[in-house]
Amino acid sequence: MLRRRDLLAALPSGALAMLGCRSETPPRGEPASSAPAPEARDVLSVVAASTTKDGAGVKLSRTLGGKGLPLLDPFLLLDEIHSDDPRDFQAGFPRHPHRGFETVTYMIDGAIEHRDSVGNHGRLEGGAIQWMTAGRGILHSEMPDASVGRIFGLQLWVNLPKRLKWTEPRYQDIGPANVPELSAEGGVVRVAAGSAFGSRGPVEGIAVAPTMLDVTVPPGATFTLELPATQAAFAYLLEGALELGASRRRVARRELAVLGGGATIVARAASEQGRMLILAADPIGEPVARRGPFVMNTEAELDQAFDDYRNGRIG
Ligand code: CO
Repeated sequence: MLRRRDLLAALPSGALAMLGCRSETPPRGEPASSAPAPEARDVLSVVAASTTKDGAGVKLSRTLGGKGLPLLDPFLLLDEIHSDDPRDFQAGFPRHPHRGFETVTYMIDGAIEHRDSVGNHGRLEGGAIQWMTAGRGILHSEMPDASVGRIFGLQLWVNLPKRLKWTEPRYQDIGPANVPELSAEGGVVRVAAGSAFGSRGPVEGIAVAPTMLDVTVPPGATFTLELPATQAAFAYLLEGALELGASRRRVARRELAVLGGGATIVARAASEQGRMLILAADPIGEPVARRGPFVMNTEAELDQAFDDYRNGRIG
């Protein structure tokens, strides 16, 4: 017999809305347990990080944007930098351009100094997030502070729809104290973007309506989060391991789980604590042409970006 959950999993996301699957929280005052359990997103695939180098020779763990998972619309890339040996990261990312998308830097430990062609300059330390909309183009450098002796950070690339690829560059630099942290049933949550459990994250005005959460689930706990059912979503394990979805697929450190459709994300910690980054956002559904630091819609636009860069028309 086809269970309702199987039926829903087999349907395209648009059909979920027609079936009345909504992602709203239960009415105020009504405990969640009295409502029918919303369908949990299941794990479609698990991608293990591969080690690579980028910038001037920084050692990275890449899950998204490599051979295993080139694209998860609108997400383009996910890199983790994590080392206590400065030789792995001190070369940094000297001055380089970006055009046509957004770079998101989330620091857990250590520090990165950034500087750009329009005069922005700052230092990102543990707990900070920077959401940079490159738009029509920016030149910047991102240099880890080797004197700290260690680093743990993530860089995510998020696409821009065609209508915004030529927008003015914009930074949102958010210090650790401005990222709300709350205790929810089954975990502790930092809300960087979007909303969770009544708290709204500080990142604003992003086209793909992202949710970005850093969630720690203690041993034995089960964490449940409601999210818009039609958004693309993934979980990336920062520490330990978690069992995700109805099938309780185990996902471990440096693995990225692509999540299917459904109204909730369910994560259980077995005997060890698990910490994950959750990302969800609206897919863009446009052609993607990417090369190096540029993400456009066509090859001709990439050629133009390289030509603009060589001729000083970026930044
Ligand atoms: Co950059």
